[in-house]
Amino acid sequence: MHKVGAAAVVLIALLSGCATQHTGTEHYQPLIAQGGKDVMWMPTANNLVTEMLEAAHVTATDVVYDLGAGDGKIPIEAARRFGARAVGIEFNPDLAALARRNAQQAGVSDRVTIVTGDIFKEDFSHATVVTLYLLTQLNIKLKPTLLSLKPGTRIVSNTFAMGSWEPDATILAEGEVSGYFWVVPANVAGRWTFTGIPNWSTAQVKITQKSQKFDGDVIIEQTFSQRIEGRLLGAQISFEFHDDQNQPQTFVGIVSANKIHGTIKQIPGSVVIATKVP
Ligand SMILES: C[S@@+](CC[C@H](N)C(=O)[O-])C[C@H]1O[C@@H](n2cnc3c(N)ncnc32)[C@H](O)[C@@H]1O
Repeated sequence: MHKVGAAAVVLIALLSGCATQHTGTEHYQPLIAQGGKDVMWMPTANNLVTEMLEAAHVTATDVVYDLGAGDGKIPIEAARRFGARAVGIEFNPDLAALARRNAQQAGVSDRVTIVTGDIFKEDFSHATVVTLYLLTQLNIKLKPTLLSLKPGTRIVSNTFAMGSWEPDATILAEGEVSGYFWVVPANVAGRWTFTGIPNWSTAQVKITQKSQKFDGDVIIEQTFSQRIEGRLLGAQISFEFHDDQNQPQTFVGIVSANKIHGTIKQIPGSVVIATKVP
């Protein structure tokens, strides 16, 4: 018993010797699973970093924010492989300093910024892509801020989902889900007046939205109504309805603030415009 205990102490001493952190110095080496403010440090595997950035369709025009950036590997790869500008927000100042050194060594410090700060306080409203490796409950806590980002902003999360906000896609590795992908939907909740639907001068549509899905009532020329269900992918909106001949039709459009410009898929050349009722 005592022998085993002594061996364990020696092993721990050896391991901790190997893993000396030298906090605050350029020799700082983080320890896998070391504590963090809201979640520990655990780096995303290299192949998954690439898969996440590919799933988010990152290009050189993007501004990628990694929330809880650790050693900076996601922002560094976003800049190095995809040519994006990238910002990492990291609470631990030693990790943040390490991430800056890593960006320097990778030759991308002109495109990578590491902010020492709290992801719940820092501004990331300029992001076009957000990457996460946190926890489901932290993703859920971030959800209102993420949903307030510009429609079309892409979000990708290693391992953890976001509660009731269903993903728009999943990342699969060997048949297992290893990540989730969302596109911030436009906000279309409320009442809209549609013009240009053939044979109907106007249609009033009242929409109730839940993340990227919505349902609503279409009231046609104040006479009869029908129930619709639809979805959003960023600013792209679509829903099915039945026309005056009871034929199924599909409206597809683009939301831009208080207007939607679209068409009926089955009627080439049709122009349908919706205006938000204030
Ligand atoms: C699981 S690690 C992910 C690191 C990196 N994003 C990656 O995928 O390799 C989570 C990181 O979030 C940091 N963190 C925890 N709470 C934070 C907070 N409130 N604000 C900023 N960073 C935080 C931790 O220090 C840790 O480095």
